[in-house]
Amino acid sequence: MQWWRDAVIYQVYPRSFADGNGDGVGDVAGIRARLGHLRDLGVDAIWMSPWYPSPMADAGYDVSDFRDIDPAFGTLAEAEALIAEAHEIGIRIIIDVVPNHVSSEHPWFRAALAGGPERDYFWFRKSQNMPTNWVGEFGGTTWTKVDDDTWYLHLFTPEQPDLNWEHPDVRAEFESILRFWFDRGADGIRIDSAALLFKDTALPEVTDGEPHPFHDLDAVHDVYRSWRRIADEYADRALIGEVWMPDVERFTNYLRPDELHAAFNFDLLGCAWDPYKMRSSIERTLESHAHIGAPPTWVLSNHDVTRHVTRYGRADTTFSFDNNLDGTPVDLELGTRRARAAALLTLSLPGAAYIYQGEELGLWENETIPEDQFQDPMYARRGHSRDGCRVPLPWSGDEPPYGFSAVENPADPWLPQPAEWKDRTVQTQTGDPNSMLELYRSAIRLRDFTGQELTWLEEEAELLAFTRGTGFACVLNLSETPVPLPEHRTLLLASSPLDGALLPRDTAVWLRL
Ligand code: GLC
Repeated sequence: MQWWRDAVIYQVYPRSFADGNGDGVGDVAGIRARLGHLRDLGVDAIWMSPWYPSPMADAGYDVSDFRDIDPAFGTLAEAEALIAEAHEIGIRIIIDVVPNHVSSEHPWFRAALAGGPERDYFWFRKSQNMPTNWVGEFGGTTWTKVDDDTWYLHLFTPEQPDLNWEHPDVRAEFESILRFWFDRGADGIRIDSAALLFKDTALPEVTDGEPHPFHDLDAVHDVYRSWRRIADEYADRALIGEVWMPDVERFTNYLRPDELHAAFNFDLLGCAWDPYKMRSSIERTLESHAHIGAPPTWVLSNHDVTRHVTRYGRADTTFSFDNNLDGTPVDLELGTRRARAAALLTLSLPGAAYIYQGEELGLWENETIPEDQFQDPMYARRGHSRDGCRVPLPWSGDEPPYGFSAVENPADPWLPQPAEWKDRTVQTQTGDPNSMLELYRSAIRLRDFTGQELTWLEEEAELLAFTRGTGFACVLNLSETPVPLPEHRTLLLASSPLDGALLPRDTAVWLRL
């Protein structure tokens, strides 16, 4: 059963989902206690951001042991119990594996620093000057000096040394990690920074028109072929790549039949709220995936990007890490209206839909976190912090921490929650037919498009309108003026109230034809 092809997959960010022990940081106990929310929402799978032992230099994406759980989150036994409990209610579990780098506290790197043969597992270079002028993925330099003339490579922070994927032990180690988690019931693996693993060993500078020295080197595909063989030894396991890649053809190379099952499509996420651009992004995605027989994926938000309620409420509705729009004016009402319409759009397109925790509550980016509370290492390097999208979820009650912590008198949540979120809790939204939460619940309940082809209905480009099979249509009005609805039998769902019989701007409907 190829469940990943049209699943609804919910991203849990463990630090911020729910806190079972009251220390202000989310944990596995909290997730287990709140599984009912995910059952009621109707999702098919959970993707768990890293929960491994980590010094947390990059919020857990600096892993020091891939076979255990960080004590802040709980124990391996609790993680196993969570997997079993999720399976009991029909929810699959995808775990996050970070193959590009480890923590500088990982035993391999400590041994490497001590001069052991583990040095060959990393990129150590002797050189008087920095070996290259490569700019890191968070900005800043990519080499740190360990003694007079020896440097090591890190595409992210110095606490995240890059592994040397030319080394057979590195490959063997990750194959063993995959088996470790598949043996414990993991249904899928999300592969972090999936296109960065290999580096040009000659260490050339980045030059326009020349092959990039560390993005998307061909050798990486051989690794994913071997991972696919492992996944195929088990039943129904999926490999899902985090592949940021503007070149569609290079992107779909990762989805060849003997490689990954799926990859995150960030094209629509970066796209402006604009009918022409959105339609061409959707068409580009559908065509390129159809070409290779892989399922498209739809992502509006995740733990790295500005929440889309905020993005869609700005004058510039695009997203890119190179264009920092923090603090520009936001119309949250407009952003929310568009986010509701975007939910109906992405939940009815062919393929799998990813929901980042809190988007089902209509949460916006918290842009009011005081600078001295920022934890994200990206902030020092790029002047943009990802903390604003990582704020603990509001569950109930009128004041922080809004039920985030399950005990009396808990510690403050690790990042502050906006006062306005008292209207965004799961509790207040439950049963309110106009709430974001009930919109997501209804849409996920109604969503059943397996095998139903998409056909564009309208040539008129300011309307995104398509059918799935013969009985269903989604219509999103991105023009300035209200438009009549196509002929239909039933109005299934509307993202905002209709204007008489007309579909207002920035509104989407699902119709039974
Ligand atoms: C991925 C993660 C991001 C992390 C980075 C380094 O892009 O999504 O959160 O900082 O990889 O591991």
